[in-house]
Amino acid sequence: MLSHRLIHTAVAFFVAGVALGTYMGANQDFRFIHVHAHINLLGWVALGLAGLLYSLHPHLQRGWMAQAHYWLHTLGLVLFMGSYAWGMVSGNKPVPFIAAGASMVSLGVLLFALNVFTRLRAAGAALH
Ligand code: HEM
Ligand code: HEM
Repeated sequence: MLSHRLIHTAVAFFVAGVALGTYMGANQDFRFIHVHAHINLLGWVALGLAGLLYSLHPHLQRGWMAQAHYWLHTLGLVLFMGSYAWGMVSGNKPVPFIAAGASMVSLGVLLFALNVFTRLRAAGAALH
């Protein structure tokens, strides 16, 4: 089920985000603050909320929009944060990759919003 996959993915981002925060604090290395913030917020919080929403309204996870949101959001976030972190380590920011990752996440979020707006209301009548 997509709701379970979202929650597993969110928890994986949570572990990575908290590990990075612990590293940053312990080493006073704040180069990765934006990576830490967005892995936790876009990864753990946003994906986890989508997973919980789908658990409450299971019909929302069926269909192409929910699948497209999942893949664009997760793969986009890995590309967005991976290339940003690489830029911090190498001193050479790979802007096109960062922009491509961020755009994938944004497109995924738009599909998520469209899915919720068009299908949550319709399901009210079906007691979901
Ligand atoms: C063990 C868990 C965590 C540790 C050790 C940790 C550590 C840190 C550290 C060291 C910073 C930099 C602070 C500074 O600039 O002085 C930071 C910033 C931040 N953390 Fe965490 N963090 C943890 C969990 C989380 C979680 C779960 C979230 C979100 C759900 C989060 C969101 C943020 C945000 C948004 C910032 C940026 C704040 C700003 O711009 O000032 N952190 N964290
Ligand atoms: C595609 C989606 C997103 C993009 C492209 C994006 C981009 C950015 C950018 C460019 C900054 C400024 C970084 C700087 O000062 O150099 C920022 C900061 C921040 N964003 Fe986002 N953001 C996104 C989604 C979110 C979401 C969904 C949340 C919260 C749920 C969030 C929370 C924050 C916070 C707390 C900060 C300040 C901490 C930091 O500087 O890292 N962002 N974001």
